[in-house]
Amino acid sequence: MSSRGEKHMVRSVVGYPRDLIGVKLLGSPYVVGQEALDKRSYLDIRYPLEDGVLREYSERDIEVARHLLSHVIEVAKPKPNEEICAIIGVPARASGANKSLLLNIAQEMMDMALVISEPFMVAYGQGKLVNALVIDIGAGTVDLSALKGTLPEAEDQATLTRAGNFVDERLMALIEERYPEVQINTHVTCAIKEENSFVGDNGKSIKVELRADGKPGTYDVTDQVQAACESLVPEIIETAENLIRSFPPEHQSDVLKNIVMAGGGSRIKGLASFIAEKLSTFGEVQVTTVADPTFDGSAGALKLAQELPPDYWDQLGDLIA
Ligand SMILES: Nc1ncnc2c1ncn2[C@@H]1O[C@H](COP(=O)(O)OP(=O)(O)OP(=O)(O)O)[C@@H](O)[C@H]1O
Ligand SMILES: [Mg+2]
Repeated sequence: MSSRGEKHMVRSVVGYPRDLIGVKLLGSPYVVGQEALDKRSYLDIRYPLEDGVLREYSERDIEVARHLLSHVIEVAKPKPNEEICAIIGVPARASGANKSLLLNIAQEMMDMALVISEPFMVAYGQGKLVNALVIDIGAGTVDLSALKGTLPEAEDQATLTRAGNFVDERLMALIEERYPEVQINTHVTCAIKEENSFVGDNGKSIKVELRADGKPGTYDVTDQVQAACESLVPEIIETAENLIRSFPPEHQSDVLKNIVMAGGGSRIKGLASFIAEKLSTFGEVQVTTVADPTFDGSAGALKLAQELPPDYWDQLGDLIA
């Protein structure tokens, strides 16, 4: 999201042609985002930010990240000679080395860049800066942040590496185990999840069309979807409990009523009440889901960028200018 009103969602994937035929088909040396996935049959697909940060440090990986970042800037349509200042969301517990690697790449194409933990961006956008807990369920990580009226310290935050991608893997394994004859891959699995995700008993049954030996057939995947989605919950609960306990006792009941869920994974049906139920031994619990799980974090970052101008950004976190 930009201060000029641009708003785009770019999947963090870059595709490169496998050979000259691919170059001819693609008409360019690489493509970024959904187009790369759509054409994956003849592209090498790379996910430079798979775990929310740069994974590896090889020159090749950095090059892929560079292609992704420059594409993101391009879709924001900056005017020539305009200053580009960006806030980049990273997992709550991203390492210093990871953050500086990302900033080094950003520096090549931006005038100023700041990395901030994603759940803090959400909290800022929602105005939940004190006695609140944010749970941001993304693809590579689930990030939790306890808001205590200051910038969260390392111990106020947690990053779990079982998130949306983990649910996809789990779901695929469970479907393969139950129906060994079907042909399935992670893209199909992810689509099934996004269409049908739920936790708790909702009484509905989920039937999907899959292929076995080239022939389509209808398969019931209700139990598999439920189990895969619920597999995230125990770790989230345990971490949330620890963060809630880190507040002064007199504030803990406020925090319990001020839990905010964000990120694509917060679209899992029934998740807010499922989590509230699991925490209910601590007292009255209210878990809300942000209105727009895709853009809420960016909206928070943009708000922060506009309310606290770039001159002050060095007080907010790791910065490159
Ligand atoms: N309806 C849905 N049900 C379950 N999961 C969903 C749904 N819609 C999207 N997701 C999942 O949400 C994840 C993407 O969420 P989000 O866009 O918040 O992640 P991200 O910010 O890119 O990742 P990260 O925070 O790890 O860097 C993906 O795993 C996606 O499959
Ligand atoms: Mg995220």
